[in-house]
Amino acid sequence: MSLESTGPAAVIVLAAGAGTRMKSRTPKILHEIGGRSLVGHALAAARSLQPQNLALVVRHERDRVAEHLRSLDPEALIVDQDEIPGTGRAVEVALNALDAATASGAAKALAGTVVVTYGDVPLLTGSLLQELVSEHQASGNAVTVLTAVLGDATGYGRILRAADGTVTGIREHKDATEAERAIREVNSGIYAFDAAVLREALTKVTTENVQGEKYLTDVLELAREAGGRVAAVVTGDRWQVEGANDRVQLSALGAEHNRRTVEAWMRAGVTVVDPATTWIDTTVTLDEDVRILPNTQLHGLTTVARDAVVGPDTTLTDVHIGTGAKVTRTHGSGAVIGDRAAVGPFTYLRPGTVLGETGKIGAFYETKNVTIGRGSKLSHLGYAGDAEIGEDTNIGCGNITANYDGENKHRTVIGSGVRTGSNTVFVAPVTVGDGAYSGAGTVIRKDVPAGALALSVIAQRNAEGWVAANRPGSRSAELAEAATQDSSTPASTEQGK
Ligand code: UD1
Ligand code: MG
Repeated sequence: MSLESTGPAAVIVLAAGAGTRMKSRTPKILHEIGGRSLVGHALAAARSLQPQNLALVVRHERDRVAEHLRSLDPEALIVDQDEIPGTGRAVEVALNALDAATASGAAKALAGTVVVTYGDVPLLTGSLLQELVSEHQASGNAVTVLTAVLGDATGYGRILRAADGTVTGIREHKDATEAERAIREVNSGIYAFDAAVLREALTKVTTENVQGEKYLTDVLELAREAGGRVAAVVTGDRWQVEGANDRVQLSALGAEHNRRTVEAWMRAGVTVVDPATTWIDTTVTLDEDVRILPNTQLHGLTTVARDAVVGPDTTLTDVHIGTGAKVTRTHGSGAVIGDRAAVGPFTYLRPGTVLGETGKIGAFYETKNVTIGRGSKLSHLGYAGDAEIGEDTNIGCGNITANYDGENKHRTVIGSGVRTGSNTVFVAPVTVGDGAYSGAGTVIRKDVPAGALALSVIAQRNAEGWVAANRPGSRSAELAEAATQDSSTPASTEQGK
């Protein structure tokens, strides 16, 4: 559709199948590896060819799949397969829909190269697809099929070749003879076709086979009969043509995808101490000289800047980490960590957390919707939510923003250069001015002016003899009694008065 596009006339992604072996209420192609749905991977590879048109064929769980596709790629044409089964029929309905879409603009059918791929083959790369298209076009082929040689070819369509090696056709496993089943070169299901040859051949494909389906694979023989050249591109990388049919394959593909992602980052200058326990989504971005320590998972749109150290035991989703920052044993999402800031260990960062440069969120802290200024520190044990904290402020141990009154949430605003005592509670809405202090255990219910010391705990009073009077006969009373008689132990605070 786009005029600048230099790629093939169209890519058709087949995604109508039911995927029953997943045993899932989620459609197969919506299952994820590397932080992206299977069909999301297929779309990324297809889009990298910069095709003039992109169509996806759907049927099983049509509405859910279509909604997902629209969210990923609003430009793509969603085509519904009818009740006639088979990959050949899927491509036929897509081609008809593409012809109709093209005709409305240019009054002629789609011409040139049409690529067919599957929605459930997630490791296929754009570069292998491009190799297929380039070979197809350079050789002037009618059909070029991507194949692989497997140790166990059970279930796949087998590539039939003449004595001189020419590809003559594809035989489905279920339709194959014993001799044909011994062939180990298999059809990946990924092809480049000449549009006119494909359109013509599909009109001749029947459902006369063991499965009663319109096989796309029949197009190869028909193209040859019509005088076209049929050839194969053989890949040595079986992972790129492997589909995810059940959960065992899904996890194997996920692990291999991750191995490749981690390796690519290491080659780009990232230190990964333990690739086996490091999981990085395909959408994550890392700078040179980042160090990732074991048991770390980076998801979504997480970015890590140069010289930052992440891990061990850290899971981050959509978190941005600044240059030279350290994030240790942390679970976080939707947070921004400034340059040279420190987080962890045992820290829970929730969405809206913004930590300024050289700031610190320490052990056993939970944060949410809080902006913390440059150099400010929340070192130990607390909760900060719906708050704004200035620069160079030190929040003492065990401080809490009490932001929720049971119905509504309120904001706490704390200035710069503030020092709060341990166990200070900020009952929001409340504002603490620059340079203010609070004593240990203060419950701040009223605004504190700049430079003031806030205290809310009454002066200490010792009720002497209280234990003897109120807990007579207890172990405490017994020991207190002994202590009063032992002159070496201060038994009362009398001398302090
Ligand atoms: C197909 C090929 C086989 C190849 C194998 C590779 C045919 C006839 N056979 O077999 O040669 O070795 O893939 O994995 O093409 N689909 C539709 N509509 C349909 C049927 C399938 O869109 O009516 C889609 C599925 O969602 C899937 C793909 O096409 O993404 C392949 O379908 P599947 O049923 O897995 O084909 P196979 O029998 O495995
Ligand atoms: Mg299959």
